[in-house]
Amino acid sequence: MFTKLFSPIKINECEIPNRLAVTAMVANYCNDDGTASDRYIAYHEAKAKGGWGLIITEDYAINDHAMNFTNAAGLWEDSQIESHKRLTDTIHQYESKIFAQIFHAGRQSNPFVNGGMQPVAPSAIPCPWHKQIPRELTISEIEKFVDEFGDTALRAKKAGFDGVEIHAGHGYLLAEFLSHYVNKRTDKYGGPLDNRARIIKEIIENIRSKVGSDFPVTIRYSADEAVQGGRTIAETRVLARLFEEWGFDALHISSGVYGDHNKGIISPMYVDQAWTVDYAAEIKKIVKIPVFTVNRINDPRMAEDILEMGKADIIGMGRGSLADPDLPNKAKFGKLDSIRYCISCLQGCMGGLATGSVKCLVNPSLGREGEIDYSLVEKPKSVLIAGGGPGGLQAALSASSKGHKVSLYEKRPYLGGQFKSAAYPPCKGDLSNFTTWIINQLYELGVDIHLNTEVTKELVVEKNPDVVIIATGGSSLIPPIKGIDKPNVFTAEDVLLGKVATGDKIVVAGGGEVGSETAAHLGMQQREVSLVEMTPILCKELNGVNKYGLMKILDEYEVKRYTETKVIEILDNGVMVENGQGKFTIPAETIVLALGYKPDNSLIDELESVHKNVITIGGALKTSNALVAIEEGFEVGMSIK
Ligand SMILES: Cc1cc2nc3c(=O)[nH]c(=O)nc-3n(C[C@H](O)[C@H](O)[C@H](O)COP(=O)(O)O)c2cc1C
Ligand code: SF4
Repeated sequence: MFTKLFSPIKINECEIPNRLAVTAMVANYCNDDGTASDRYIAYHEAKAKGGWGLIITEDYAINDHAMNFTNAAGLWEDSQIESHKRLTDTIHQYESKIFAQIFHAGRQSNPFVNGGMQPVAPSAIPCPWHKQIPRELTISEIEKFVDEFGDTALRAKKAGFDGVEIHAGHGYLLAEFLSHYVNKRTDKYGGPLDNRARIIKEIIENIRSKVGSDFPVTIRYSADEAVQGGRTIAETRVLARLFEEWGFDALHISSGVYGDHNKGIISPMYVDQAWTVDYAAEIKKIVKIPVFTVNRINDPRMAEDILEMGKADIIGMGRGSLADPDLPNKAKFGKLDSIRYCISCLQGCMGGLATGSVKCLVNPSLGREGEIDYSLVEKPKSVLIAGGGPGGLQAALSASSKGHKVSLYEKRPYLGGQFKSAAYPPCKGDLSNFTTWIINQLYELGVDIHLNTEVTKELVVEKNPDVVIIATGGSSLIPPIKGIDKPNVFTAEDVLLGKVATGDKIVVAGGGEVGSETAAHLGMQQREVSLVEMTPILCKELNGVNKYGLMKILDEYEVKRYTETKVIEILDNGVMVENGQGKFTIPAETIVLALGYKPDNSLIDELESVHKNVITIGGALKTSNALVAIEEGFEVGMSIK
């Protein structure tokens, strides 16, 4: 089925066993001196076990001020080599090859992570991400960096890496040199393309003088920076020929820069799948060395097609490997329906990085590979779970995979809880991939599933399980607003699920993620929608890239937005609101409530009165989100002894 995907390919003298590459992703799992921690090694080992042909590590800093995260990897001094040698030795127990990505973060760094230094750049223009004015580099500093790239590549070789990837994309230092929109220099490193690319020519020469000609050195850069005045495919093509001529062994064609309104480097679900592939295809037409493509390519069949059509030579998957490190082996053995696909939510990976380290919403084991005991328990317990939302489903999956006998009860006629309705708004369909996946897993593991069944104390007494888990999630918050009980007022969940019919003029009350997505859903039905939010900001819980995608849909369907506006009263023909302009009525036939959730905790006291081992998780305890509910479900399911 996958003749191309599982055929080997050579990068320089290094044979990669198949065409599936994990792309560089900073996880923030290393020690704070840039050395590899056990956690970091176990995380990569899971991917090698899973069958990836090539693992490209996160971006290793070339000096002790070059990083963009506190616990990112580095090879700026010899003392760091040993820990990274442990990593490469671990990976080499399997068939995978491993390359280190090396970089300098340039202006996309900040003093909180880089040892208190003002960031540096070709020119003193702040980046939209950190907004700090960087210091313009002097010629002698640039020369020093060139040397440091060479030294870092040599250390990577000594640490046992099979190759290095130079990171010249995504708006980091080398990308800054390459691009007119941030490089305003008028010396030999600025102006025409040859000058802007000079630093990269010097770097590859320096590296080659240190690692020799047979050590793979590849380069990653953005085909289109998707920013005003940034580089486009036109210069990318010219650069491709230059890079090949200068001795790079492969080109990794990515896209975007951080902090722009990109589609972008790490595309959310609002962006088409595999949308950058044609950039790689363009480049492949004009070079002989292997070309990587990447971005929202998760399905192995999609990957095979890209190879078959000659659009690229190697398929990069970043988040696909976080969501399921075993994807290659599952594909190889034809178990496509067991792949846990990335849903492009950005909640665990980018959200995790923003607050600590990388997580994954659909893969709660991520970053805990070496820490958790996945073996079967000696004495299986009977476990009764109330609630079939994400937390309950994950608790059932974890407990049953440990060998416990699990029964799950859901009062609704379907599983998935709020995660089911969350897949209904535009561009959110991928969410149902996870719900379907986890439900299938539960049936395969023999979990006893009861729909349309509420858990009561009588049921618990009758079944008498060893453990009871309450995962009933939250229910819609209905505040005491005058008129809220009118027959034309519905919850967002009921509207999304198509349980109720709306009129053509609609007010959605509550401009958080659920309200805004419901407004988009209704806008797509070509209704006249107004969105009312009390605070100054819509979707404040949403990351920038997702929010940008969602707001574009609201623009497209002309959804009217009222922020800092309070709902005062629901009338028969509209909603009376109040804001800085005073009180006024927004005409509407239907009012949709998206005012948040409250914990559905009514079972706690009831069940605790008849059972001594009741554990409550997720939104039933505290209003949270699917990431937290799944983590808690995982935790509790894995820890039952
Ligand atoms: C958490 C995270 C960290 C990333 N860090 C890096 C990085 O260090 N270097 C890099 O070149 N790209 C980085 N990326 C981008 C990925 O390598 C990849 O290009 C991007 O996620 C799109 O591919 P995907 O849709 O397969 O995930 C990162 C992506 C994620 C999700
Ligand atoms: S958190 Fe979401 S976007 Fe990130 S890897 Fe997991 S499923 Fe994909």
